[in-house]
Amino acid sequence: MSRQPIGIFDSGVGGTSVWKELNLLLPNENTIYLADSKNAPYGEKSKEEIIKLSKKNIDLLLSKNCKLIVVACNTATTNAIKILRETYSVPIIGIEPAIKPAALQTRTKAIGILATKGTLSSELFHKTTDLFASSINVVEQVGEGIVSLIESGKVNTPEMKALLEIYLKPMLDANIDYLVLGCTHYPYLIPQLLEILPAHIKIIDSGKAVAKQTETVLKQHQLLNIALNKPKLEFYSNAHLEVLKSLIGDTKTISYLDF
Ligand code: SIN
Repeated sequence: MSRQPIGIFDSGVGGTSVWKELNLLLPNENTIYLADSKNAPYGEKSKEEIIKLSKKNIDLLLSKNCKLIVVACNTATTNAIKILRETYSVPIIGIEPAIKPAALQTRTKAIGILATKGTLSSELFHKTTDLFASSINVVEQVGEGIVSLIESGKVNTPEMKALLEIYLKPMLDANIDYLVLGCTHYPYLIPQLLEILPAHIKIIDSGKAVAKQTETVLKQHQLLNIALNKPKLEFYSNAHLEVLKSLIGDTKTISYLDF
């Protein structure tokens, strides 16, 4: 067993949607969350920049003695996970859009995927789509502007609703029955999405699956923390600390760190 923390990073506040699932499933684990909000959104950066930023985050987490890294960012996973796994010896868990479950369960043979430009243009995304969804209609939509609105605390605003209505329209026209959320910021939009989408459309995000995968990998490496002490939950951000606080709750301590 290992009391070392699990390190989690995202381009900003969105990865806390994954952190919440992890903390729910593995409540004994000490965690360190890094929100690289100063550099958000990653989704509009080049692959090289995304790799560089991801390495910077992982180097910091490893300097804090993390035993495993969760890349709680779809854009960083789809663009950088291969090289990150080649670079570091600690286990690295990534998050990919849940194309497979949506493709397996769709009845209308049409699914929608909302993600960043960086995710939708990545090789990994195309490979996954070709592998699991070649026989169905995958309606891809770049969620341009969404991450920036969330990072500035404008989650439940008319501006956000207007963007979502525009982005969902082609999916509704294509008769999708599954909407895949391909960015860890997007689960915070579920209340607004439920207002726009007809009731039969199911929303899938990958947070729970990542938590489960983290548990599996910790067990495989005999790294689970089975101690019953209250876990240490650390949050660091380099911008918008108040937005992060509004998403994870007032009881958590967030520290500013220039990274
Ligand atoms: C972004 O920073 O553009 C979004 C993060 C993600 O893809 O999860």
